[in-house]
Amino acid sequence: MNADYPELRGFAQSARVRKISVDPRSIGHPQLKDSLIIGDASARIGFMKEKRKIEREFGVPIAGEILEPAQWSRTALKHWPEGTLDWQALFGRRAPIVVDLGCGNGRFLIGSAVWRTDHDHLGVDLLPVVLRYATRRANQRGLGNIRFAAGEAREVVERRLPAGSVREVHCYHPQPYHDPREAPRRLITPRFLAWIVRALDAEGTFFVQTDNLPYWNYLEKIVPEFLDFEAQPGRWPDAPKGRTRREIIALRRGFPVYRGWGRKRPDIEFELAMRRAESLPGPLFDAGPPDRELEALDDARWRPVSNRSVRQVGNLPPHWPR
Ligand SMILES: C[S@@+](CC[C@H](N)C(=O)[O-])C[C@H]1O[C@@H](n2cnc3c(N)ncnc32)[C@H](O)[C@@H]1O
Repeated sequence: MNADYPELRGFAQSARVRKISVDPRSIGHPQLKDSLIIGDASARIGFMKEKRKIEREFGVPIAGEILEPAQWSRTALKHWPEGTLDWQALFGRRAPIVVDLGCGNGRFLIGSAVWRTDHDHLGVDLLPVVLRYATRRANQRGLGNIRFAAGEAREVVERRLPAGSVREVHCYHPQPYHDPREAPRRLITPRFLAWIVRALDAEGTFFVQTDNLPYWNYLEKIVPEFLDFEAQPGRWPDAPKGRTRREIIALRRGFPVYRGWGRKRPDIEFELAMRRAESLPGPLFDAGPPDRELEALDDARWRPVSNRSVRQVGNLPPHWPR
């Protein structure tokens, strides 16, 4: 057990079982109609009493339940196959694909995989250490519709995602990089959005959120150049306490969180998006000072990427600032 992750202690604590109806509009998907049972107590199923092991992070349950080891799955994609991904080969079926870039500990994506068994999911993060939490959780839930891989988001979007193959791309709390010298590391640039346009299928949607207002102001100007963009009014209906670890922390600290989503536009294809990207400003805004408490809570290991961790994943694209 890692001391930095006290929320991983006490899997088997008792609590009441609650039934929560999930809003069908959640995650932008009418298919999401299931009701979610959360709780870690004994649940009555017919005449049987079954022990449910539910995990919480900052008091907020993580979807699914921890199964007996015999039912665990393997969700780590340890080596990228050559070239672009073959989704059919990866998941053994054809299903809408959901990608989370900078997925951190995987909370959002695991929830989506638990609730939307008819979708397949790929989580990507630079840091192998955070992915270990994500894969462990997904394995323990026996999920077959999710994989996690270490990688650099821009490289993955440009080189790994087949054009027109992804139904949803999610990007929650990309680092704002408060030190102006690090501004060129910011993930969401016009060029990055052009590549997102390329990856999305005709019904595809890009979801983004941040607790940094200057980043949000930039996104509100730039994203509509590529996608039919809307700000999400208020919290996501499927996760009022936060879809991700960072969102939960920000909400607990009383920070506003800015959320939005943009659908693919039939009139903007990759070539046009790329041309447009060349004329738009990069994310060189002043991100303001960091909130020390927020950053401390969010754990030093979420922060950018020391040289050591960059080297760990390797394969940085040529335009990645070094
Ligand atoms: C602030 S955390 C947010 C994590 C998670 N999305 C959440 O909301 O809790 C940012 C995450 O993005 C990852 N990250 C930063 N730059 C990245 C990049 N270029 N490619 C992939 N992951 C990146 C970090 O390692 C970190 O896990």
